[in-house]
Amino acid sequence: MQMPAPPTARYDAVWRRAEPYMRARKNDVHVPLSFDWAQRLLAAHPEADADIVSLAILLHDIGWYSIDMEDIIEKGFGPNMMQSDVRFLHESEGVRLSRPVLEETGWGEDTIRAVAEIIDGHDTRPHPRHLNDRLVRDADKLWRFSVTGVSVACDWFKMTPRQYADRLEHQVAQLETETGRAWAAQELRATRAALMLHVI
Ligand SMILES: [Fe+2]
Ligand SMILES: [Fe+2]
Repeated sequence: MQMPAPPTARYDAVWRRAEPYMRARKNDVHVPLSFDWAQRLLAAHPEADADIVSLAILLHDIGWYSIDMEDIIEKGFGPNMMQSDVRFLHESEGVRLSRPVLEETGWGEDTIRAVAEIIDGHDTRPHPRHLNDRLVRDADKLWRFSVTGVSVACDWFKMTPRQYADRLEHQVAQLETETGRAWAAQELRATRAALMLHVI
């Protein structure tokens, strides 16, 4: 059973300040959905730091704003090499862009550094460093298992919903927390039913 999400109006100013950076890679859909998963994970893990996890998930992908994927592809780089370079770049750009967002919305240096530490390496660091980091990683992934996540990913990866749902089955075990794994499996079952994947 999912825990109810707590109220989050204290982050509204950060949302508004970061909004211009969210019009890339469907982040204006991914980030709100992952933010909601983060609130549920926080309710299930009260020992985590709610501000750091909430701000880190809100800002973790704003670095994509700085990266013109089409331009990169047009320049003729190999897809795998550039994919990994671009992954590092979206993290470092996220760290760079998040500082003025948090400063201007009144957050202190300790919070800014803790958020930056999570953003920097959220996709590329092999192992998360602590619970806050683990919850951000799970929130980042959980939206994929929803109908919306499958819908967006089918366009990105040129797959059918059935193909992508089958791929997701293998990703459930990759979540960091037991809570995250349980919710991913539950969400994927609901998505399969909603999209009639037992038939098509
Ligand atoms: Fe990312
Ligand atoms: Fe993400």
